[in-house]
Amino acid sequence: MSNQWDPKTYLAFADERTRAAAELLARIPIEAPTRVIDLGCGPGNSTDLLASRWPGAHLEGMDSSPEMIDQARQSGVKAEWSVADIDGWTAATPYDVIYSNAALHWVGDQASLLPRLMLSVRPGGALAFQVPLNFDMPSHALMRAVASEGPWAAKLSGIRNIVLMSAEQCFDILEPCATNLDIWETEYLQVMEGPDAVYRWVSGTGLRPFVQALEGTERDAFIQAYKARLNAAYPMRESGKTLFPFRRLFVVSRR
Ligand SMILES: C[S@@+](CC[C@H](N)C(=O)[O-])C[C@H]1O[C@@H](n2cnc3c(N)ncnc32)[C@H](O)[C@@H]1O
Repeated sequence: MSNQWDPKTYLAFADERTRAAAELLARIPIEAPTRVIDLGCGPGNSTDLLASRWPGAHLEGMDSSPEMIDQARQSGVKAEWSVADIDGWTAATPYDVIYSNAALHWVGDQASLLPRLMLSVRPGGALAFQVPLNFDMPSHALMRAVASEGPWAAKLSGIRNIVLMSAEQCFDILEPCATNLDIWETEYLQVMEGPDAVYRWVSGTGLRPFVQALEGTERDAFIQAYKARLNAAYPMRESGKTLFPFRRLFVVSRR
């Protein structure tokens, strides 16, 4: 099954998506790192923030999507870009900062991933990441419900059900390898404009594996059924605005 990312759909909400990246970066207590990497850098929007804060650092951006890295290369951000998978990745030389905004939840078993990433951080450095906490919210619960209820259920049954860590689980996983842990949650109230706003948001991220597994009229029917449920859960106001609560988990782990 293809699992492609589309930089254009993703960047339709660039400001909203980058806000959490900036709030994570602001909490990293490292003034002049030498080596910094952005794991799951996407089109380079989060890497751009790192470049602005630490212009003297050697900066790398890594992502498993060639389309995203192509876009990052055209972004003008000064960084060394590479296509690679975070799963199984370890650094040859440790980094002062390993940063990852909205990517680690796409990688398998986080209980082994996080301690492994900490081994690639130099002592005194930091692993900083942000992941969603929204998989029980209607936007994602309805995706799974519609997937399991329709004639497409068999085709969609193999799609990985992403398991998100709680703040407490993150603490327990990282405590043995960290000297200090700063963990917090934020719920943003995204104010979205125009029809099908939440649908357009998830189209750039969590919905991709579902629509990419279907074709033609079956795909259209799945999207229509999902949109109808979404629009009931997130009604558009008379002003054309839709409110979309959006929870995120932030972690800064010092080695
Ligand atoms: C939601 S985007 C985040 C992009 C950017 N960091 C930002 O802050 O907006 C998630 C990115 O993670 C990448 N990704 C997903 N799984 C990955 C993996 N196993 N290894 C490397 N990158 C991955 C995707 O290709 C995508 O570009």
